[in-house]
Amino acid sequence: MGGASASHRGEGGNGLASPDLERGIVPHLEDAFGRRFRYLRLSVTDACGFRCAYCLPDGYRPSADAPSPLSVAEVRRLVGAFAALGVEKVRLTGGEPTARGDLLELVAAVAATPGIRAVALTTNGQGLARLARPLRQAGLTAVNVSVDSLDERRFEQVTGRPLLPRVLAGVDAALAEGFAAVKVNAVLLRGLEEPELDRFLEWTRRSPLSVRFIELMRTGCNRNFHEANHRPVDWLEGLLAARGFRPVPRGPADGPAVEYRHPEHAGRVGIIAPTSAHFCEGCNRLRVSSRGALRLCLFGDAEVPLRPLLGSDELALSLRARLAELVGEKPRAHRLAEGRSGLAWNLAGIGG
Ligand code: 5AD
Ligand code: SF4
Repeated sequence: MGGASASHRGEGGNGLASPDLERGIVPHLEDAFGRRFRYLRLSVTDACGFRCAYCLPDGYRPSADAPSPLSVAEVRRLVGAFAALGVEKVRLTGGEPTARGDLLELVAAVAATPGIRAVALTTNGQGLARLARPLRQAGLTAVNVSVDSLDERRFEQVTGRPLLPRVLAGVDAALAEGFAAVKVNAVLLRGLEEPELDRFLEWTRRSPLSVRFIELMRTGCNRNFHEANHRPVDWLEGLLAARGFRPVPRGPADGPAVEYRHPEHAGRVGIIAPTSAHFCEGCNRLRVSSRGALRLCLFGDAEVPLRPLLGSDELALSLRARLAELVGEKPRAHRLAEGRSGLAWNLAGIGG
């Protein structure tokens, strides 16, 4: 279904008409399949100092003629438009967001946007020990830290950097700051064997963390690595059940993670499996790349530049109308099963 029709579907659609606004009805973003979008993932840079084997195995190479990432003013306008359309949560991703010298300003600008209730950050944790407090003060509410291994040697093998202790200090600092949520992301890889998995599970016994295992996704650049290292999630599901973890019933607003709890653990464990059936059904997110292109599906072929509408406050209404129209065109599901990963060459420019 085309976006225009989706955006004119009466009360359920993206009513942008001014009478609605005047009556105090907040328009919202909804696609042709009835999915509502309250959550924006915004990449703020492609740059990253890590060399994760599945993402940037040769390290980040800046290209000389690439446009600069969105400025603080552009981010403010972008988030303002999404918030006016009912988006309540923004996650800043990368690359590595802390690679930006003005990250605190970005966080503060997003947090100050009327309607935005949660501002989260996905980080490799490298700078988190230092930044946890200023980020919290700038208005950040939640942090996701990538920790693919709790074994120093394997951590270095996977990420190309010998920084596990520093990253763990970052997680501790985030916990100490009292963020509403601190989550740890671990990509599920061959080589993560039972003893190490048990260390991850044990970590959730006392720490109110959510440790999420992410199924390795095939992207344009990691085909061979994917083939050699992909581990199906049923291995993990079986182990969690055997250790006394039980799935938490899923709510309608839940994202793609299936969460598990253990009666004696303060934290939780989650599994994110992009190839599982409900992954697309429950998709509640929109993505914008570091250079301001809207990506309707992580693995889709469509990327729409929004930058032409981000240059001035006067374009705010055009930007909103364009967003509502584009969201109506969001595809129902990805086509990974057909081996199609779309534009996803790696996830460094779009943040997963
Ligand atoms: N498959 C699964 N997860 C990935 N990430 C990056 N690339 C991939 C991939 N191909 C993860 C990172 C981080 C988050 C931003 O996305 O490890 O946790
Ligand atoms: Fe950097 Fe994240 Fe990619 Fe690792 S997965 S190289 S931390 S952007």
